Amino acid sequence: MSLSGSIALVTGATQGIGRATALRLAEDGAHVVCADIQPTDGTVEEIGNAGGSGESVWLDVRSADAWSKATSAVREKHGRIDHLANVAGVVNLLSEDTVVGLTEEAWQQVIDTDLKGPWLGMRAVIPGMIDTGGGRIVNISSLAALRGLPNLASYTAAKAGVAGLTRQAAYEYAKHNILINAIAPGTIDTPILADITEEMRRANADAHMIRRLGDPAEIASMAAYFFREGSFLTGLTYPVDGGWSSKGNF
Ligand SMILES: NC(=O)c1ccc[n+]([C@@H]2O[C@H](COP(=O)([O-])OP(=O)(O)OC[C@H]3O[C@@H](n4cnc5c(N)ncnc54)[C@H](O)[C@@H]3O)[C@@H](O)[C@H]2O)c1
Repeated sequence: MSLSGSIALVTGATQGIGRATALRLAEDGAHVVCADIQPTDGTVEEIGNAGGSGESVWLDVRSADAWSKATSAVREKHGRIDHLANVAGVVNLLSEDTVVGLTEEAWQQVIDTDLKGPWLGMRAVIPGMIDTGGGRIVNISSLAALRGLPNLASYTAAKAGVAGLTRQAAYEYAKHNILINAIAPGTIDTPILADITEEMRRANADAHMIRRLGDPAEIASMAAYFFREGSFLTGLTYPVDGGWSSKGNF
């Protein structure tokens, strides 16, 4: 199935996995609305250079008001939103993120972006999808939702929440022809890793069965599968993690 003629909204589209997803969906024929709290002009330009169609919209995923404005503008202009990729996210890689050591402020920042953001996004697009006969949503969870990892308490809580919310939303809206899945990436080489040491990068790469970091395009490819194919898939949180979640200790 081609995405030709469809309207897709991708959050976190400035860089990393969101940018790769926006580029991939445009390549597959969708008109892509590139949403981010930072400018997305670079992504839109790259989409245009590759012969695709895209536009920018400013969006802070933590804000219900911002979601309402952004999705109303898209619906006014294009009449519909067929696909939503909830990709925007943050992580505390350098500060303490343990149950005891985490501050309330740091907890709230991660939960608001990584869990409340996808909820607000689904809430903003689902009524329109019901009106237009259906749609597809892909949320980005994490390996941290499936396996214990060090110093990721707020992140794990948010990403496990995304997995639960994905299953719940899939159950409620399947009857409206809306299919909702999540992807649980391993460690993907994006700007989110900018501050980690070379030693941490190496250790992360080696933790995958396929002993390297993932490429953002490899997550985008799975997202495209859920959007383009996957007509009997809903409610999943699917690992795209180079085998990490299937690996034993030897
Ligand atoms: N890179 C990895 O190893 C990895 C692994 C598992 C899951 N993930 C998840 O994948 C998603 C994308 O991560 P990435 O690695 O591409 O990160 P990234 O930092 O490269 O990109 C994140 C994007 O989200 C945007 N963003 C942050 N807060 C926002 C807000 N409030 N409103 C709108 N946009 C906002 C940023 O501006 C940025 O463009 C995140 O949800 C992340 O948790 C990443």
